[in-house]
Amino acid sequence: MRYDHVTDMIGDTPLLRLDPAVHGLVNIDLYAKLELFNPFGSVKDRAAWSMAAPYLRQATERGDTVVELSSGNTAKALAVIAGMHGLPFKSVTNRMKVPEIKDLLLLLGAEIDELPGQAECLDPTNTEDPLTRMHQLLAGSDSGYLHTDQYFNRRNIGAHVHGTGPEIVADLDGRAPDYFIACVGTAGSSAGVATVLRHHDPDVTVVGLVAEKSDFIPGIRNIDEVHEVGLFDPGHYDSIETISADEAIDGLLTLVRRCGILAGPTGGGAYQGAVRFLSAVDAQLTERRTAVFIVCDRVESYMSYVRERRPALFHQPARRHSTRTITAEELARAKAIDVPDAQRWIAQEGCVVVDLRGPFAYQALHIDRSINIVDELFAELVHGGLPFGRRQPVLLVCPVGEKSARYAALLTRMGHPDVRSLAGGIIAWRDAGATLVRD
Ligand SMILES: Cc1ncc(COP(=O)(O)O)c(C=O)c1O
Repeated sequence: MRYDHVTDMIGDTPLLRLDPAVHGLVNIDLYAKLELFNPFGSVKDRAAWSMAAPYLRQATERGDTVVELSSGNTAKALAVIAGMHGLPFKSVTNRMKVPEIKDLLLLLGAEIDELPGQAECLDPTNTEDPLTRMHQLLAGSDSGYLHTDQYFNRRNIGAHVHGTGPEIVADLDGRAPDYFIACVGTAGSSAGVATVLRHHDPDVTVVGLVAEKSDFIPGIRNIDEVHEVGLFDPGHYDSIETISADEAIDGLLTLVRRCGILAGPTGGGAYQGAVRFLSAVDAQLTERRTAVFIVCDRVESYMSYVRERRPALFHQPARRHSTRTITAEELARAKAIDVPDAQRWIAQEGCVVVDLRGPFAYQALHIDRSINIVDELFAELVHGGLPFGRRQPVLLVCPVGEKSARYAALLTRMGHPDVRSLAGGIIAWRDAGATLVRD
């Protein structure tokens, strides 16, 4: 295999049949489409190249900066492509949660603009998400940016209509698989492949996988977030199912340890989601069937993500105090109070108000005399034991009251007698017209 350009190596990835002794399906041949073999490491190489290539010459002449709302694989691929064409690349993103990926982007020469998105409640009186604002700004022509716009750009889907989908059909001797399972981020890969497979066989069953609401799986969205994506069309999927971070890591371990596929968490999630879905139909089948799922990227960038969730894999002790172990009963028992009660409580009891949002959001507007301990830092503090005296009442605050409720449950379990969570979070506080200050 000889190539003149590294971008010619994008696509034509292997389709690997997995050993039935591993997945346990009797009547279904399960194949993994190995997108981790793309030259920059992921399925997003295809979309990045498809979105950028037609405009690179013009961008070079004008000295544009390539820009994308991405904190992961699209940014990685674009950073390389931009660098190879002598262009700067800027990644605009919410708080970056995977440190290895941030380091890699910096290594590749990317500039990173970390903006707090709406989930962070930068300024709760301003309902416009900074990311949306940025998006509108960049959409103007002559902005000095080549904005690839992965969440809305049809060329993202096109990369899979012309590449990934036809490759799967060709490798299955001209036939579409009976089942296709993929994780959904921008929806480009799942929508593109589904379009091609349905063209060959309208009866293909397409399963889209999203993260469970309370879980973070890097690269994909949860069911609420996915509806904000311009390319997402529920009509592409027969079923949309959720996977948890735990399932994604279980799948990752099976792929890396038993299949020889060094998959990242979404590859693991796709495997686990595929096996879960297919196991339910396998026993009723009377003929052999074929299923394909996508392995989006590689495991190496996710060591800290896996270590935080499975310390034992790295010979580290389990976190004694973690919100991940909170049960539904504990959550139900944790005290939450509404805004009027919280106002009374703050005035009468002198409780400490702890704002768990990021520092940008806190600095923009916060409850008077609250203190800011961002959730990751709070998790560290709690790891070491109760961070407040037992006689100190504590009110925990976050954007919508979900995170604070989990921490309230955890501190209660740890023996704090009077910790409460602000129901509905800072958004409810704003909606009730209660005072917010900027120092
Ligand atoms: C690791 C990972 N898995 C899955 C996906 C989902 O792919 P798509 O954006 O085509 O829906 C992405 C997208 O960024 C990703 O980075």
